[in-house]
Amino acid sequence: MRRYDTSIALYERTRKSLAGGVSSNVRYASVPVPLFFERGEGAFLYDVDGNEHIDYVLGNGPAILGHAPKPVIERVAASLARGQVFAAQHPGETALAERLCRLLPGIEVVRFATSGTEAVLMAFRLARAFTGRTKILKFEGHYHGWSDQAYISARPALNEAGPANAPVPVAGSPGMPPSVLDDTVVAGWNDLDLLADALARHKGEVAGVIMEPVMVNGGPTPPKPGYLEGARKLCQEHGALFICDEVITGFRAGLRGAQGRYGVTADLTIYAKAVAAGFPLAMVGGRRDVMDTLLDRGVMHGGTYNGNVQSMEAALAALDILEAGDGAVYRDLERRGTKLMEGLAAIAARHRVPVKVQGLPAIFQVYFTEGPAPSNYRDAVACDRDRALAFHRALQDEGIRTNQQAKWFLSVAHDDVIIDRTLDAADRAMKAVA
Ligand SMILES: Cc1ncc(COP(=O)(O)O)c(C=O)c1O
Repeated sequence: MRRYDTSIALYERTRKSLAGGVSSNVRYASVPVPLFFERGEGAFLYDVDGNEHIDYVLGNGPAILGHAPKPVIERVAASLARGQVFAAQHPGETALAERLCRLLPGIEVVRFATSGTEAVLMAFRLARAFTGRTKILKFEGHYHGWSDQAYISARPALNEAGPANAPVPVAGSPGMPPSVLDDTVVAGWNDLDLLADALARHKGEVAGVIMEPVMVNGGPTPPKPGYLEGARKLCQEHGALFICDEVITGFRAGLRGAQGRYGVTADLTIYAKAVAAGFPLAMVGGRRDVMDTLLDRGVMHGGTYNGNVQSMEAALAALDILEAGDGAVYRDLERRGTKLMEGLAAIAARHRVPVKVQGLPAIFQVYFTEGPAPSNYRDAVACDRDRALAFHRALQDEGIRTNQQAKWFLSVAHDDVIIDRTLDAADRAMKAVA
C-alpha cells in the first residue's frame, strides 16, 4: 500500500491558508487527500512522498506532450529575459495567430485569452452582439467553464433536471444569479430531433449553440454519425451561431481537433489546454464577419495576460512538434491509445467485469455498465460510479493516476513500454475491483 503521509500533513497545513487547500474545486476529490506533487517529467509525476505515478490526468488535458516537454521549456526559458506582458503587441502573437489561422478549420481570425472559461464568455458575447439575440443553447453534461453564464446543467442531478426531451437549466453552484437561467436553453446531446425541438421552441431567440463536439466532461462520448453536420445545419436554419468548445478536443482529437476529425466547421471555436502544452493560453477564433464585431461594433474583450510572451512561445514550440509531418505524432497517439483502450476492455472481460471503454484514443473512459456505451450525459451517469471510483483507487495504489471517473488522457510521452506497464497494473487493479 502506498503511503501519502507527507501529502496528508501538507494538506492539513495548506488548508489553513488556502481555501479548501486547493486552487480549483475539481481537485478536492482525490484520495486520501488532494495530493501534492514535487515534479512531472514526460508521462510521470512524482509526489511529495516519493511515489511515482504514470499520469493519465495530464493537468486535465494540457500536457499533450507530457510534463515539462524539453523543446517547449527551452523556448519559453529563452524568452523569459525579454519580458512577460507589455500591454501591447509583440511579434510572437502575430506568428502564432498566422499559424493557427493557416492550420485550423474555419479559423479566419483569432483572439487570445488566458483560460477556457473566459474564452467561452467572449464567444457568448460575440454571438449575442452578432445576432442581436440573447439566449445560448447548451447541452446537458457539457462543461464550458465555471462562470455564471456557462456553469449550467454541466453535471445536473437528474431529479432536478426535468425530462430528457426538454431538460430544465440547472445552476451548478450557489451564488449564481437565477437570471442566467432565463438566458439559457438546455437540450439533450447527440439527438438532432431534440435540438430541432429546442430551437423551434425558442424560435428567433437563440444567439448561439455551444457544444463539446465530442462530449468529454459528461463522459467521453463521440458524436453519432451525421450529428455535428446536422447540428450545424439546424443552427444555420435558425440563424444561430454554431460554437464548438474544443478546449479539450483541440490538438487532442487530432491536429485539427474534433472539427478536423469529423469534417465539420463551426462559426466560432474555443481552443485552450493542449494548444500551449501546459502554459496558460485560450483563444476564440472563427468567421471573420463575427470576429470583426470586436472592432466594428466595439464588442469588449480584454485581459491583462492575453497574448503574454511565454504562452505564445510555448504554443509555437508545441506546434513545431504537433504539426511536424502533418501531425505524425497523432498517428502514434491513436495507435497507442487504441491499444490501451482495447487492452483495458480485454482485462475487464478476463475478470468478468462488464465495462465499455469509450471515447477517443487520447481521451476516453472506462464505463462500468452492462448496457451499451453511453450516447449522452444521462446514459453516462447511469453507469456504476462506485465501481469506477474503486477502479480509480485501485489504479492509484498501482501507481496509475486517472481521474475520479476513471477518465484517461493520453500524451505523446506515453510510449509502448509505459502502456504495457499500465496494462499490467490495470490487470491487478481490475482484479481487486472484480
Ligand atoms: C470543454 C471545456 N470548456 C471550457 C473549460 C474551461 O477552461 P478553463 O479551466 O481553462 O477555464 C474546460 C475545462 O476543463 C473544458 O473542459
